[in-house]
Amino acid sequence: MLTDEFGREVTGVRISLTDRCNFDCVYCHNEGLGDTRGPMDPQNDEMTTDDVVRFLEVAAEFDVDAVKFTGGEPMLRQDLEEIIDRTPDSMEVSLTTNGTFLPGRAEDLVDAGLERVNVSQDALDPDDFAEITKSGAYERVLEGVEAALDAGLDPVKLNMVVFEHTAGYVPEMVDHVAENDGLQLQLIEYMPELTGKPEWNIDIGRVHDWLAEQAVEIEHREMHDRKRYWIGSGDESTAAQPSSPNDADLGMVEIVDPVENPTFCANCHRVRVTHEGYLKGCLNRNDDLRPMGEMSKPEIRDAFREVVANRVPYYGEYMIQNDQGEWELNEEYLEIEPPAD
Ligand code: 5AD
Repeated sequence: MLTDEFGREVTGVRISLTDRCNFDCVYCHNEGLGDTRGPMDPQNDEMTTDDVVRFLEVAAEFDVDAVKFTGGEPMLRQDLEEIIDRTPDSMEVSLTTNGTFLPGRAEDLVDAGLERVNVSQDALDPDDFAEITKSGAYERVLEGVEAALDAGLDPVKLNMVVFEHTAGYVPEMVDHVAENDGLQLQLIEYMPELTGKPEWNIDIGRVHDWLAEQAVEIEHREMHDRKRYWIGSGDESTAAQPSSPNDADLGMVEIVDPVENPTFCANCHRVRVTHEGYLKGCLNRNDDLRPMGEMSKPEIRDAFREVVANRVPYYGEYMIQNDQGEWELNEEYLEIEPPAD
């Protein structure tokens, strides 16, 4: 197990398999790279199947036990099943997708070894959905969620980014997961750092307060500094006497709120890989990208060790608060070397 200078063990990797996407979500940070979308056809800047597998084998040597595949839209990669199939058995495999390609493919992914899926669903209304994602594929996404459930990927987590456009739909989405077995909701605080639209920010504290009022039970997961709220499905008699948080009548809602949150960063245990095969120690930074060379195992090992050694908690260390309470770059990190090519 590799540990950084701040005592954070690296136990997970998040691999972007492509920056291509059939959606164009207005809030998308594209894994911290900004808008890099291009043509939908396979691109030759992407890691090959073998590159991805070789990286995963090295990560497994360092006891990384979880991998999440993301994008862009990772299901645009036709070799996703092969990648999952060749992922070391010691790793838990999950996927974040917009869901549109799950119908007809979810079962193959499960057969290959997929264990969990997050589907981005930011609204329950086709028009709102189209406005946010710049896509009319709302029905297809719902079919994708069904396909995932049918393939046994229960519970399916719905990712909803909470920002100006979606905040008003939080109650509906909460009801939706409370009423439908097999669904959980992950409310993700809008991260304005890399999207250039700070004005879309909302106060996530209000969402916490509102959920706390609705919840039958609240759980605080120290590991990620995340709160989970268990919500009744509207039947007051059930809501008043919960038997346990695992009660099938309750819906689980989790808030992920990393923005300006040093505790969140102190509990970050993952390293990212860009679609081009660069290691990335922090979502919010692009000055720490490290190529893995020609992707031979010794090169990957060296790069991985180096990236972990250079990892720094973003809020609370790389960014610190001044006397006025504003976040500013810690002077210690002013002289960062530009990424090597
Ligand atoms: N803020 C918060 N979450 C975001 N995502 C993408 N862009 C942002 C952002 N600006 C999340 C969405 C999506 C996942 C791939 O990344 O939840 O489901």
